Amino acid sequence: MDYKELMKQAIEIRNRAYTPYSNYQVGAALLSESGKVFCGCNVENAAYSPGICAERTAFVKAVSEGEREFRAIAVIGGAAGGPLELAPPCGICRQVMREFCDPDTFEIVLGTGTEDYQVYTLSQLLPMSFGPDNLEKKEMA
Ligand code: THU
Repeated sequence: MDYKELMKQAIEIRNRAYTPYSNYQVGAALLSESGKVFCGCNVENAAYSPGICAERTAFVKAVSEGEREFRAIAVIGGAAGGPLELAPPCGICRQVMREFCDPDTFEIVLGTGTEDYQVYTLSQLLPMSFGPDNLEKKEMA
């Protein structure tokens, strides 16, 4: 699975976005260590805050199917009916990635299409992060 194909899947799932309030559609394709791809779109809500981003939809789908190890996620956005745009993941989505992914190896693929994307590590997008290791029980001094 190369990143061009992952981006293609993000573009496809973006068409399922439910965005009557923002009109901004996002698609995400999450590649697990086992090689499976879990796709997600943003799903908005009349009460606004229950809305969920595309990236978290993909993570929730994957984890609920038993996957907990991931290699990369491709994300793409843009207004409905308009051109595809680079869509950097929001802070909450970055933190959700941090829960399951190694900041130094997990890659985030952002761009405007299958021929135009850049690859970032999670630690580049979420430096000095707080993660599960911060809550590991420490020996008392
Ligand atoms: N959105 C995502 O799906 N992912 C992000 O990381 C940023 C924002 C969605 C949420 C909302 O439905 C719309 O984009 C506008 O904020």
